[in-house]
Amino acid sequence: MTDIDPPPPPQSESAQAARGSVFERLSASWERRAQVRSFRWDTAPAWDPAKDDFLPQLLPFGEHPAFVGAPAADRARCLAAAWLAFNENQVGLELSIVIPTCVRLLQGHIPGAQDPALWATVSEALTDESYHIVLTQQGSETSRERRGLRALQIPRSAVIAAFERVQAEHTEEWQRDLILLASTVVTEIFIHAHLRMMSYPPDSLQPLHGLVTRTHFTDELAHAGLFRAVLKASYTAMDATQRAFFASVVHLPVRWFADTDLEQWAAILDQIEFPGRDEILAEARALRRELVDYSSLVKVCDEVGITGVRERLAAWSASS
Ligand SMILES: [Fe+2]
Ligand SMILES: [Fe+2]
Repeated sequence: MTDIDPPPPPQSESAQAARGSVFERLSASWERRAQVRSFRWDTAPAWDPAKDDFLPQLLPFGEHPAFVGAPAADRARCLAAAWLAFNENQVGLELSIVIPTCVRLLQGHIPGAQDPALWATVSEALTDESYHIVLTQQGSETSRERRGLRALQIPRSAVIAAFERVQAEHTEEWQRDLILLASTVVTEIFIHAHLRMMSYPPDSLQPLHGLVTRTHFTDELAHAGLFRAVLKASYTAMDATQRAFFASVVHLPVRWFADTDLEQWAAILDQIEFPGRDEILAEARALRRELVDYSSLVKVCDEVGITGVRERLAAWSASS
């Protein structure tokens, strides 16, 4: 006999999954499903100069005649810049919102974060999110190089700017933690729609970019359930003041995500000297319409018992 107890015999995933909390079930499948454990660059498709780097229909001006009729090289560069911005915006969400939320949960600062099963799953999500930074940065590299965009500077996204503005308006640490949690819950809901179209693209798009986005999307499918469960555990543990505050801010990130971020686009189009950019931006600004499907957030809030979110979003929607 040694003085170290032998580890318990391994349980099959199905045996573990058959019981336990959402956190335990997610942890039981992490080794198998996490893309950081399985994604291989050496078998990824090569970048193809004849293919588009991004889907034109996802641009806020993809149908504008000045974009559609632009010289092929300008159009290709603009789509590559869109791919870089798309990736950079995801990195911004991970770095400024989702990863700090995971850290505050693991440090026990956010109400309800006392459960070891929650810590295990949040640590795994933190690993996934850190890997998404590696993945998207590597996924940007060839477009940057081959489309002559090495010097392109992408300003931080409107979502991050708005998040930082709201955080700066609140001095209490617990308020800032709850804004972080709300922002992560909404980010994790919206990132699906954000990634989905690029994940299953047509043949005209770089297969490499489809693969990179689909890899991220696969991890995010599991995160949706995780952060719903985190919200539930956290809201249950909040006191009345914290609950009222959370309910008053959880709809805000929806508004941030509705922004088409034409300021970021103005900076990009200027740098790549896209022909007709003033006309394109003027029309995009005139047509700017903040449309966003927030039904998933309302459903999650209804499940958890957070009231007033549907009404706040409907009032904002009617006024925008
Ligand atoms: Fe992610
Ligand atoms: Fe995520």
